Amino acid sequence: VSAVEQLGLSLLHRLDPERAHGLSLLALRAGLAPLPGPVDLPRLHTSLAGMPLVNPVGLAAGYDKNAEAISPLSRAGFGFIEVGAATPQPQAGNDRPRLFRLTEDRAAINRFGFNNQGMEAIGARLSARSPGRVPVGLNLGANKTARDRAADFATVLAHCGPYVDFATVNVSSPNTERLRDLQGRAALTELLLRVMEARAGLARPIPVFLKIAPDLTPQDVEDIAEVALATRISGIIATNTTISREGLKSAASRETGGLSGAPLFEKSTRVLARLSQLTHGTLPLVGVGGVGSAEQAYQKIRAGASAVQLYTAMVYRGLSLVPEIARGIDALLARDGFANVALAVGTDRSAWL
Ligand SMILES: Cc1cc2nc3c(=O)[nH]c(=O)nc-3n(C[C@H](O)[C@H](O)[C@H](O)COP(=O)(O)O)c2cc1C
Repeated sequence: VSAVEQLGLSLLHRLDPERAHGLSLLALRAGLAPLPGPVDLPRLHTSLAGMPLVNPVGLAAGYDKNAEAISPLSRAGFGFIEVGAATPQPQAGNDRPRLFRLTEDRAAINRFGFNNQGMEAIGARLSARSPGRVPVGLNLGANKTARDRAADFATVLAHCGPYVDFATVNVSSPNTERLRDLQGRAALTELLLRVMEARAGLARPIPVFLKIAPDLTPQDVEDIAEVALATRISGIIATNTTISREGLKSAASRETGGLSGAPLFEKSTRVLARLSQLTHGTLPLVGVGGVGSAEQAYQKIRAGASAVQLYTAMVYRGLSLVPEIARGIDALLARDGFANVALAVGTDRSAWL
């Protein structure tokens, strides 16, 4: 972390978290952050559901909800980025305050509720971007008042699919009432079949991932693995934020919403490893939740992830964490004698089961 980044972070942390988030996006767009470009080292080259990646470190959904900073984020070091969630209609989300820092826990709680400018505005921005080496995906959401939520995912995919490299069906946000019910076997099967139909309608069918919650029962996880294989989706992103509040110190831990950051690491990694086992390592998995170091990113890979994503750790460590993690993974692969990322995937899965 440079002195300038340290100063920027300490200034941002004196502000209301949502304002700080908005300012960090503005600073990025204004070119105030150093952007080293995607970390590109031979050992880190890999592929995720057929997409070539220069490195396996991705930006998780929810940071750039409206796809406003794709160009600078593509030069921040990430190997892929996910923007959104986008819903069909623009939506204000829940009342403020709705984002809380849990500094002592290196965590955050959010209850945004899919605030976004809607698929028209977001699709226009996505269509205007210049294609680069860093794949860009869109997190799909449903409007709070939609009568048919499953239809919303298909609608956003049909509208924005032509302009992105992958899409994610997000049925795991805890901040839209009853959304997570779509993770149940019957509802999920129907939802994914409808989304895959929308995908088949695209001129260029893109990988479609499912993003799941960390708070599922073992039976739910088994059902999801089966449905994912049966519906032939491209992979699973594990996991979203948790509604659990175990072992927290910060006063803000009493806030309602989804908890992200360090306390989520173990729980999300266990779900990841279980999915890897249930799908016999055949389904591409993305590990998300509490990644704050190269060691942790590497642990997710060895638990079964083909790639990782992160968000909350950047709030505390800044954007320079991204190249640091990517380079660190490279060093860990070299240490353990893996010639590339793919060879390390799932090699320590049993330790997490
Ligand atoms: C403020 C905030 C907003 C988020 N919004 C979304 C979202 O719109 N869609 C989604 O799938 N996940 C969303 N997430 C979840 C993250 O993508 C990620 O799954 C989660 O934060 C765990 O990763 P982390 O511990 O590295 O932050 C959000 C997370 C945060 C902190």
